[in-house]
Amino acid sequence: AKKVLLFGDIGIDDTIAILYAYMNDEIDIVGMVADYGNISRENALANIQYVRSLFDSEEIENVKIIVGAEIPMTGELPEYVPEIHGEYGLGPIIPETDGQDGVSENFHDIVEIIEQYQDELVIVNIGRLTSLATMFLLYPDLMRKIKSYYIMGGAFWVPGNVTAVSEANFHGDPVAAQLVLSNTNNNVTIIPLNVTQQAIATPEMVDYIDQVGELPMVKTLLDYYYDYYKERDPNIQGSPLHDVLTLMAINQEDMFTFQHLPVQIVQAREGTERGQSIADIRPYSNMEEEAEEEIRTHRIAFGLDYPKFYTRFMTVMSGQRFD
Ligand code: BDR
Ligand code: CA
Repeated sequence: AKKVLLFGDIGIDDTIAILYAYMNDEIDIVGMVADYGNISRENALANIQYVRSLFDSEEIENVKIIVGAEIPMTGELPEYVPEIHGEYGLGPIIPETDGQDGVSENFHDIVEIIEQYQDELVIVNIGRLTSLATMFLLYPDLMRKIKSYYIMGGAFWVPGNVTAVSEANFHGDPVAAQLVLSNTNNNVTIIPLNVTQQAIATPEMVDYIDQVGELPMVKTLLDYYYDYYKERDPNIQGSPLHDVLTLMAINQEDMFTFQHLPVQIVQAREGTERGQSIADIRPYSNMEEEAEEEIRTHRIAFGLDYPKFYTRFMTVMSGQRFD
């Protein structure tokens, strides 16, 4: 199984991703860093603990939960989105949690997880990139040795979801997003809105999982999430599972088509362009003249095979076979 260190802002689709991992014996989440984003860092921490409390399994009990960032590197106070993810980040659910048990305030615990799993470890970022970028500032050599990163973020030549051009995770902290992309090369897979908007869970899919699966919460969470999206786009067929698709990607490369491109994040403090992700598809020859230093490229998913997504998602989430 792939060992995953997860950085997230534990809202609805983050939570579905965590449930997907728990149902999938090919993915072991060995640590989670909870950041502000969809909701406050405190709510994100409480949500991870609440979800974990629903499973009485040894393996899950000892997943290390680490307190992440409270505000972006840009310094301003974040704006949460309770209208999308619910007041506490779990739709209508108010998570009771038993205090701070099993939560570490020691950021160095992330180093211990990385050193324990080394080349086996995959880092998956499904929230703002503030904590991940902080790790590059504190432990640059360690972070450059990580084999692979999967990042949910960006929108390339398609509409954004926070502004006309910007996606929420990159918009939330453009400084952190650029810092991570400027310190990695050839080992980052970006799963942008280009493909996550296609990774739809329809009401029929959700009802089936609710009936046959043994997973709590899926219907409650996704019915709430779908209500928000349907209100804004009556034609949308279901909930776009941004974070689930990103976690799925670590084992299902054949679900996607990729391009390896240099990426820049617009560093405006406010306005439409803040956090816009720009990929450069000019032939390398043009860029080489301009480039003062090596051109860093990242693997970006532009195509999704929906039937493959559907089969894999339904098989894992319902515990049935969908071949
Ligand atoms: C991203 O932002 C959040 O709303 C979701 O959890 C996802 O990580 C989508 O732009
Ligand atoms: Ca998220």
